[in-house]
Amino acid sequence: MLVSVRNPAMRSDPRNITGLALVVAMGGFLLGFDATVISGAVGPISRYFALNGESGSLKLGWAVSCLGWGAMAGNLLAGVLNDRFGRRAVLLLTALLFLCSAQLAAFSTSFGVFVSARICGGIAVGIALLTAPVYIAEISPARRRGALVSLNQLMIVFGISVSYFSNFFLLGVGPHNWRWMLGVQALPALAFLLLLIRVPESPRWLLTRGRAAHSLAVLSSLHGAQVGQQLLVEIQDSLRSEPGASRIGEVLGRRLRFVLLFSLGIAFFQQITGINAIFYYLPTIFAQVGGGQSSAYAQAALVGVVNVGMTFVAIRLIDRLGRRPLLMAGVSGMALALLTISWAFHAAESPGSTTQLADARLVLGAIIVYVACFAISLGPVMWVLLSEIFPNEQRAAAIAVVGFWNSLVSASVTFIFPWELARFGPDGTFLGYGLLAVAGLLFLAGFAPETKGRSLEQLESLLARPVAP
Ligand code: BGC
Repeated sequence: MLVSVRNPAMRSDPRNITGLALVVAMGGFLLGFDATVISGAVGPISRYFALNGESGSLKLGWAVSCLGWGAMAGNLLAGVLNDRFGRRAVLLLTALLFLCSAQLAAFSTSFGVFVSARICGGIAVGIALLTAPVYIAEISPARRRGALVSLNQLMIVFGISVSYFSNFFLLGVGPHNWRWMLGVQALPALAFLLLLIRVPESPRWLLTRGRAAHSLAVLSSLHGAQVGQQLLVEIQDSLRSEPGASRIGEVLGRRLRFVLLFSLGIAFFQQITGINAIFYYLPTIFAQVGGGQSSAYAQAALVGVVNVGMTFVAIRLIDRLGRRPLLMAGVSGMALALLTISWAFHAAESPGSTTQLADARLVLGAIIVYVACFAISLGPVMWVLLSEIFPNEQRAAAIAVVGFWNSLVSASVTFIFPWELARFGPDGTFLGYGLLAVAGLLFLAGFAPETKGRSLEQLESLLARPVAP
């Protein structure tokens, strides 16, 4: 174990908790990497599996988006598996799935095996997306919980960025470069698996299974013997006061109607404005504006760096400025950038244009602005709001419902993207995203709550309808 649970008298060591959070957030790294690594393989797999014509576009959309459909299955499985087997076992399972999926995809010789491997990775993505933050929240002291849980989003965007770099470096290894791009993920997956062996089970889950002595040992090793004992009593009390009603029933009930509808709305706009279409097909989009293949991959890597950098900025600003200002500024910037991209492609197709190619620098600049604006707004702020606006007891079930919806919209958007490009052109496709971003801005201006500086209990009384006596 990363922490020894044998000596409850030991004092707390914050490095222990940060270390554990970092290990578990490797799940975030792997899911970010796995989701976007496909962007580098789009061209090579289209050639290898001969994905041509209109049916080829749909098959390509399927090959790229099937990870998202697997993720939805993973979202659904996450809650059940976590309750039944504990967070640690579930995280170990995701590490194994990531490992197998990377190997299977790398060695696949048929389209069916390739898609199955990606779906298997998607299941791991869907489970990791919901399990890693829950585990981190359950081992964290309250005052550091926000920052520690945010490590997961940071690792997601770090994983995305590393996948662009790795694709860029592996581009030149020959015709089987796509096998290397997908297979290299086995290394971090193996590291994740080995590190997880030393991670203790969540003390909160242990208590729900009646394993109080084990739970106390973990709590004491994380927070010190005295605080550990105190926490044990508090968790036991909270478990006793939790009614046995169906969580999903409560989430869908009248009391949480506003927060649920708002959450479904923000999750919809986070995906319908095209973030994952852009991330998964980035080199393809850059290739549309001309320039060499290698520069398209290098530009994708640059976009990844901007994403990571701006997520750091968001983490610094979110508690100072608040959630609403970040959302308003970020989504306005996204809308402007998307409309600019559409205009750049449109201008290139107009009769007066000599090159038929959009201004590459304008498209690159606008995509960077778009990703930067997403990374300070809808990207992290949606997940922070989701972890704040639901009452304690319904939080996990509610996040599963909204996470599933978010994955569904993401998978649909990435599935139809190649077809949309072929049918409406890049100008029409980005115009659609731009107009949806404007609609998202109006929705958020009207309904997004400001949660900065309020306790979770204050938020519960503000946002959830009072229960009838
Ligand atoms: C979204 C993902 C997206 C990522 C990009 C997350 O908040 O939920 O769908 O790929 O941000 O940074």
